[in-house]
Amino acid sequence: MLKILVTGGLGYIGSHTVVALQEAGFKVVVVDNLSNSSIKVLDGILAITSQVPEFENLDLRDKLKTQQFLKKHYDIFGVIHFAASKAVGESVGNPLLYYENNVNTLIYLLQELNKKKNANFIFSSSCTVYGQADVMPITEESPIKLAESPYGNTKQIGEAIIKDTCKSNLNFNAIALRYFNPIGAHTSSKIGELPIGVPQNLVPYITQTGSGVREQLSVFGDTYSTLDGTCIRDYIHVVDVANAHVIALQRLLNNEHQYNFEAFNLGTGTGSSVLEVIQSFERVSNKKLNYKIVDKRKGDVVTAYADTNKANSVLGWKAKYSLDDAMDSAWKWQQTL
Ligand code: UD1
Repeated sequence: MLKILVTGGLGYIGSHTVVALQEAGFKVVVVDNLSNSSIKVLDGILAITSQVPEFENLDLRDKLKTQQFLKKHYDIFGVIHFAASKAVGESVGNPLLYYENNVNTLIYLLQELNKKKNANFIFSSSCTVYGQADVMPITEESPIKLAESPYGNTKQIGEAIIKDTCKSNLNFNAIALRYFNPIGAHTSSKIGELPIGVPQNLVPYITQTGSGVREQLSVFGDTYSTLDGTCIRDYIHVVDVANAHVIALQRLLNNEHQYNFEAFNLGTGTGSSVLEVIQSFERVSNKKLNYKIVDKRKGDVVTAYADTNKANSVLGWKAKYSLDDAMDSAWKWQQTL
């Protein structure tokens, strides 16, 4: 059984990926510092797959411990690197935390992996690397514009560091997966998103409002130049995102990659407005959502959705789930909390 290290494997996308990897027959080792996740996620993974991954509570900012850990697990085939801070607003207030957490840790990991004969690395990137793109849908060739936040910058810098590492070492293979807006939960409702405090993202805010945890959703602006005036995003089911990681790993395993650094968009290719997401929630939950239109949120891009041709034809991956499927799973998960 091939051994895969998943950093941040108890987080939202990480935990769904651990499930997908175990279901595909990989042996998984998880490191997580539990800063934005719960140890109970292991129970959910066990309930779905009848297996628990090996787990170590490790903060990758500890360079020595990270080195020791990777030496102990010298036999891993590859690393899927999720561990990072991800709140855009927080990154503006505390940029150094973001650079330390997202950039230093990446360097420590790469330094160790670079010593191996053959290294395989999958990086959790984001559509945020494109900023406000001029042309829709966004292809992987769209220019990487100046980042809008320290968080976005760490994803751009991360990709650049990995790319340079790949250039310097042809035995270092990496794939960056640029997620659009992952939403939803595992269809079993055993794992899902666990936002700490008040959710910043749309879907957990909607489901919490639907269940009465929050009183009302604020829709940030309805005078954008879109069909209904609200912003457009490409919402993608987290299980589809998780499956893409397994396919990317198999691509490296089977030596199918064309270059030793590749980047792929992970989206559905369809943009949905905030009001369409609300309507989808109302359809699947049979509930009316209490919401009001408020001022625009600073820094929001108007429209972002993916051109998924490269992921479809080169990676051989395609999103299977619809917006309603994703909202349905998010709502079912919310009701278990
Ligand atoms: C943000 C980040 C992105 C990150 C993603 C997932 C930016 C520019 N991008 O995406 O890098 O990968 O989160 O963590 O911040 N909305 C409301 N009311 C709410 C919350 C959101 O109307 O209470 C609207 C927003 O204005 C936006 C849409 O819903 O139009 C989606 O927002 P959100 O879920 O926060 O994701 P992004 O901002 O697209």
